[in-house]
Amino acid sequence: MVEYRVKDLGLANQGLLKIEWAERHMPVLMKLREESAVGKELKGLTIGAVLHVTKETAVLVKALINAGADVWIAGSNPLSTQDDVAAALVKCGVNVFAWRGESSEEYYWCIRRVAEASPDIVIDDGADLHVILHKDYVDVASKIIGGTEETTTGVSRLKALEEAGLLKYPVIAVNNAYTKYLFDNRYGTGQSTFDGVLRATNILIAGKVVVVAGYGWVGKGIALRARGLGARRVIVTEVNPIRALEAVFDGFEVMPMTEAAKLGDVFITATGNIKAIRREHLESMRDGAILANAGHFNVEIWIPDLESLARSKRRIREYVEEYTLIDGRKLYLLADGRLVNLAAAEGHPSEVMDMSFANQFLAIKYLRENRSRVPVKVHNQPMELDYLIAKLKLETMGITIDELTSEQREYMKSWSYGT
Ligand code: ADE
Repeated sequence: MVEYRVKDLGLANQGLLKIEWAERHMPVLMKLREESAVGKELKGLTIGAVLHVTKETAVLVKALINAGADVWIAGSNPLSTQDDVAAALVKCGVNVFAWRGESSEEYYWCIRRVAEASPDIVIDDGADLHVILHKDYVDVASKIIGGTEETTTGVSRLKALEEAGLLKYPVIAVNNAYTKYLFDNRYGTGQSTFDGVLRATNILIAGKVVVVAGYGWVGKGIALRARGLGARRVIVTEVNPIRALEAVFDGFEVMPMTEAAKLGDVFITATGNIKAIRREHLESMRDGAILANAGHFNVEIWIPDLESLARSKRRIREYVEEYTLIDGRKLYLLADGRLVNLAAAEGHPSEVMDMSFANQFLAIKYLRENRSRVPVKVHNQPMELDYLIAKLKLETMGITIDELTSEQREYMKSWSYGT
């Protein structure tokens, strides 16, 4: 018997079509899925997942069930669930607790349902499941074979847990695989963030001043795409001098947020930290400035400051909240400051999630195959799996590359060759 709470099971057929579309664009994961289905490589496993419930996640979940696992899933953000996909997953035999527009209480209730299924392996995006397991379900956590983590923010939370000596099971930081962060964080977020901003506002980026807070892989992708869409100025703010220098050498203006705040038409946060945009910045922004967040949590644009500076607010379009400040200026907050790409659009395109979720699938198989041999710590994805995914992705794109000759291999191993 499948257990679930979703918005409307009647949306399942529409969700199944969406999943079919994603499958077409995720050839690496589909290949791994077909191979693993034969030997039912995950038979007997209960897998608990807290992920954005999207068509791409559905392709991963179907790979897990085809390989024999029983899957329990909740959404990893109250605004990111695609309700038709959630319904379709129920029809596929998955236990689903997710709907778009969950309250904070409902969000955690859904995650608890996953924890209470006593999963053998857990997949998380942002570490809310890992943290609940470690805080409130210690008995369940101590029996878990291992877990994975999809995102930068989740990996830093898990590293903090490890440093505090509290980590209960090994975790593979899928985020840190090259075939994940170089593509998903950069090109995936770069494109999907603008997809969200544009679907919400339909503004023209050409001619605008775009301010990007944070120049990690996500910020790099957003700045790159802002330039590609014709922004008149792309300004980067940073706290890390190396990243700031990278931004300068990549051809962007760099300055503190206090200065950038006066200039921007569109602000996009991608720092992974709290209060990247706060009272002192909001106070000097231009009338009509648009604020969006691409980081995991809705803490980067400090909404309590916006609320306290405002005399009124109203929803002017779906996903656009207009704040009228006491001095009459209007600021526009997108998607309640939550991940704009998943709330106002569909998240990263399938082609890039193909690699991210192929990493997840291989990490889970690795944990299963090596159970009890993997030390309890935060691990990087084994390098051979990263290479395998890159190779498969190139193959599916019809791209071939050179191989080292035996002479070149010898040369690389030698210390004696000089000028
Ligand atoms: N994170 C970003 N984009 C995503 C997507 N399309 N599916 C699942 N998780 C995501």
